[in-house]
Amino acid sequence: MKTYDLRSDTVTKPTPAMRKAMAEAEVGDDVYFEDPTINKLEAMSAQRLGKEAALYVTSGSMGNLIPLFINAGRGTEVITHANSHIIQHEVGAMSAIAGTLPIAVDSPRGLLEAKTIEPYIKPVAYDLARTAMIEVENTIGGICYPLQSLKDIRSLADRYGLKVHLDGARVFNAAVATGVDIAEIAANADTMTFCLSKGLGAPVGSVLCGSKEFIAKARAVRKMIGGGMRQAGILAAAGIYALEHNIDRLAQDHDHAKLIAQALVKTGWARVALTDVETNIIFFSVAGVPGKKVVSVLGSNGVLCSGDGDTIRLVTNLDLSSEDIADVCRRIDAIDPKEFVQ
Ligand SMILES: Cc1ncc(COP(=O)(O)O)c(C=O)c1O
Repeated sequence: MKTYDLRSDTVTKPTPAMRKAMAEAEVGDDVYFEDPTINKLEAMSAQRLGKEAALYVTSGSMGNLIPLFINAGRGTEVITHANSHIIQHEVGAMSAIAGTLPIAVDSPRGLLEAKTIEPYIKPVAYDLARTAMIEVENTIGGICYPLQSLKDIRSLADRYGLKVHLDGARVFNAAVATGVDIAEIAANADTMTFCLSKGLGAPVGSVLCGSKEFIAKARAVRKMIGGGMRQAGILAAAGIYALEHNIDRLAQDHDHAKLIAQALVKTGWARVALTDVETNIIFFSVAGVPGKKVVSVLGSNGVLCSGDGDTIRLVTNLDLSSEDIADVCRRIDAIDPKEFVQ
């Protein structure tokens, strides 16, 4: 039986065309600024996001850590959603390395609003930690930020002299799903990271964008934390290929996610918030069944997914064709709910 991997959009493998671009990449020592392919990826990224400069980094986590280190830093507070990746999945780097204190805000669907954030901004006083940054994640759990919310957060940050970092691991999904230009989204953040290794299908790498002054500092911090790379143009070439070929097709992943969500709704045993399936991520649960059991039942039917507590996550991706998705939907439909109690 064929197995379909929907655990994440990070599981995709580079296509032959992407591998060809990698094999043919011109390279040099990037620590000496001499890798033409990395230089090209950084210039393309900055231009696309409407930022002055960009830096190729090893991962989304590194792309989030560097701005936390530079624009927030030791003893400062960073306001972010309680479910944000920087709090939940980055090994505490925001505190352990950047020295910041996360102020975790809970709000519906992972989306922060200026009015929800404002009460958490500390007044300036000698005995209080300074609020330095607001960090937003777009998409968060596959849900897109309304552009107006980002604009309001920007205005709030400006009023209080705060920096805004946008964790845009999947921001191209947001741009494609909402039809808002990526530069319009990025305009609301001082710094923004996007991942090449998720929906865009590259094997590695993220890009951090910001002002020229910020990126010069970021290059030094990247080196300090061991992220200076040499002939990594061979990897950056995959990123260029991804930016040139794999953005518009994200719409297909989003359509696929909706089809799976609808198939889950039809089963009667799955609880899905259909309207929250805005991009390539589907969350669902099965009443009274532990997540681990649901993951194992779907897995035994050849559909790999991931579970956290009672919540199951499926992520559509580049490696799954429309035929694959149709088969996934058939397999979901064929599951006998008795399998959950055996
Ligand atoms: C929203 C978000 N931000 C950041 C990251 C970190 O990316 P990486 O795994 O490349 O460090 C991820 C990874 O899944 C993510 O989902």
